[in-house]
Amino acid sequence: VLSRPDQVNSGILGQGVSCWVFFHGLFYVGYFYVGNMVVFYGSQTGTAEEFCGRLAKDAQRYGMSGMSADLEENDMSELPRLVEIDNSLAVFCMATYGEGDPTDNAQDFYDWMQETDEELNRVNFAVFGLGNKTYEHFNAMGKYTDKRLEELGGRRIYDLGMGDDDGNLEEDFVSWKEQFWPAVCEHFGVEATGDDTSIRQYELVFPTDINMNKVYTGEMGRLKSFETQKPPFDAKNPYLATVAVNRQLNQAGDRHLMHLELDISGSQIRYDSGDHVAVYPMNDVSIVNRIGQILDADLDTVISLNNLDEESNKKHPFPCPTTYRTALTHYLDITNPPRTNVLFELAQYATDPKDQDILRKMASASPEGKGLYQSWVLDAQRNILAVLEDMPSLHPAIDHLCELLPRLQARYYSIASSGKVYSNMVSICAVVVEFQTSTGRSFKGVATNWLKNKVVVTDNGHKATVPMYVRKSQFRLPFKASNPVVMIGLGTGIAPFMGFLQERGWMKEQGKDVGETILYFGCRHRNQDFMYQQELEEFEKVGVLTQLNVAFSRDQEEKVYVQHLLKKNNEHLWKLIHTDNAHIYICGDARNMARDVQNAFYDIAEEVGGLTHTQAVVYIKKLMTKGRYAQDVWS
Ligand SMILES: Cc1cc2nc3c(=O)[nH]c(=O)nc-3n(C[C@H](O)[C@H](O)[C@H](O)COP(=O)(O)OP(=O)(O)OC[C@H]3O[C@@H](n4cnc5c(N)ncnc54)[C@H](O)[C@@H]3O)c2cc1C
Ligand SMILES: NC(=O)c1ccc[n+]([C@@H]2O[C@H](COP(=O)([O-])OP(=O)(O)OC[C@H]3O[C@@H](n4cnc5c(N)ncnc54)[C@H](OP(=O)(O)O)[C@@H]3O)[C@@H](O)[C@H]2O)c1
Ligand SMILES: Cc1cc2nc3c(=O)[nH]c(=O)nc-3n(C[C@H](O)[C@H](O)[C@H](O)COP(=O)(O)O)c2cc1C
Repeated sequence: VLSRPDQVNSGILGQGVSCWVFFHGLFYVGYFYVGNMVVFYGSQTGTAEEFCGRLAKDAQRYGMSGMSADLEENDMSELPRLVEIDNSLAVFCMATYGEGDPTDNAQDFYDWMQETDEELNRVNFAVFGLGNKTYEHFNAMGKYTDKRLEELGGRRIYDLGMGDDDGNLEEDFVSWKEQFWPAVCEHFGVEATGDDTSIRQYELVFPTDINMNKVYTGEMGRLKSFETQKPPFDAKNPYLATVAVNRQLNQAGDRHLMHLELDISGSQIRYDSGDHVAVYPMNDVSIVNRIGQILDADLDTVISLNNLDEESNKKHPFPCPTTYRTALTHYLDITNPPRTNVLFELAQYATDPKDQDILRKMASASPEGKGLYQSWVLDAQRNILAVLEDMPSLHPAIDHLCELLPRLQARYYSIASSGKVYSNMVSICAVVVEFQTSTGRSFKGVATNWLKNKVVVTDNGHKATVPMYVRKSQFRLPFKASNPVVMIGLGTGIAPFMGFLQERGWMKEQGKDVGETILYFGCRHRNQDFMYQQELEEFEKVGVLTQLNVAFSRDQEEKVYVQHLLKKNNEHLWKLIHTDNAHIYICGDARNMARDVQNAFYDIAEEVGGLTHTQAVVYIKKLMTKGRYAQDVWS
């Protein structure tokens, strides 16, 4: 992004301008050619970061300089000073989590926005929010950022965009971008260069004098960090936990439900019941090999992709030097449907003009293009391999493909054990993702299939390992053990409650006064996916679990769901909530269940508590604010 004075590019305005730039939390003088755009991301699983990179790259097509920036790595209290840069614009891509919360890397910025009364001096801004309509607080962070920046005196250049991950987030982003750029052009008096050709951000370098000790083999941060492990362990420095237990939880049915125990002894990792464990999976070797084969690439070539912008703080798209094999196995997402910018950039490699057309059309904002992308890529769940297989004339350079693909993300699991009882072990309860796509291919979820195949001790006596770290959550047992708890878990959503039950049992053993502990568990069939049946019945027998209610949805003609059972026990539940300060916990599906269960609680408040619907909604919302109605849900 920064150009030195001797490198000032004439750009479309024909002159360089001196300006200030955000960089590692500092402002310092740099030189630019036209407008200057910094795109900040608040991202947990990489999508907002990816979108920021695309916007920053687009900027070049409009004669502007663009840089993508991590909110966490910049001193955002300096934001008002952005006006000191001519033609400057701050764009924010903000994802929402939890109960409308910011991502980890946006927390400080969020705090700053809430607390500051600084005047933003008409700093130009635009916001694109990333969210999911199935969550109650849809796009809360995007909305807040947009509103707050205006309140503080910022000048909105283009309307808030709101992407919905439950629909077609890519399309939402592309549509927003299509309107955003003309607004920017109008505001700054710039024009698109008309140059729609692909712009490489990284150059391929083959290191000379290769020292294999300096080549990344899957590490997330420090080279050789898997060989010499040093705490503290986190996202950039995961711990290699050995798999102590990997057992199937269901005896029947066509799914594979599993319980894993990861040994964390000696790691200094501490966790609480309700926390999440993040695991870094590896892609399926057969997909990696097939990509190599189709692209005629020697996957074991050592390469480095170096940022052409030497001043950028992102030197490589993934840890380099490494091999193509390592990049495709550990660092790149090769199984999710590729985004439209990837298709656009790949089009140049299709030798059949028809394929070129199709790829470009799918990347365009035309209704026909969007429809084609939806059906051919998204609905058919074509991953990059399927795209290559189904378009034989498409033969991209492997290094360009590696530059374009997004990063493989860690997968989160609700920890299914208590850190108080099992301080050396983190348990996971998961369902293996596997289904047929409409093109007849078998889709295998990356992490769950990789975990399923982790044998505790391999033939050669090695112990299988999993790179992991713990992420703190807000899903916590009440401070006072005497408070009753009502846990509602669906399918694998039983996970955190195994930890809660272990901990309540442990507290009981310590002689503490432990309140009522009630579980509502929903699964398909009693004889198939009644996970942890023995353990639950044992908890019930010893009085840790005071009530075990199970809804087997498919064991009878009519569906029976947990909310039906909740309503049957409405009087007792209302007493626990209203009189006894009970805490309610919900875990599992975010798409429908969380809302349906919440509606059941509204009904209980109305029917037994005598509240109107509006009062009932306010009542439950209040419980949420007080931390007495907590959800750990995903879709
Ligand atoms: C906070 C949090 C906690 C979580 N806790 C748990 C937990 O305790 N246990 C657990 O099992 N999971 C949990 N998950 C989900 C977990 O993180 C992974 O998303 C899940 O295991 C799938 O990962 P994968 O790599 O195997 O699948 P991926 O390779 O990521 O593939 C998943 C893709 O397949 C799609 N998909 C899945 N099933 C189907 C289907 N039948 N038809 C069509 N498309 C489908 C999904 O929409 C998604 O696009 C949690 C997620 C979050 C965010
Ligand atoms: N992103 C991913 O790749 C991924 C991977 C795994 C799981 N998940 C999600 O994780 C969650 C749990 O998965 P799972 O396989 O463990 O659960 P599951 O076995 O599919 O469902 C558990 C129970 O919940 C019931 N249920 C469905 N809709 C409900 C509703 N609206 N209200 C109350 N109960 C309802 C089911 O009934 P019926 O099915 O009989 O209706 C079933 O009895 C789901 O959201 C699933 O989509 C996502
Ligand atoms: C555990 C979890 C909680 C979420 N909570 C919300 C939410 O409260 N509101 C919302 O609009 N979207 C929510 N989302 C959706 C994300 O914001 C959306 O998927 C986004 O694209 C993620 O961007 P990222 O990859 O940059 O982190 C949630 C997603 C997950 C996995």
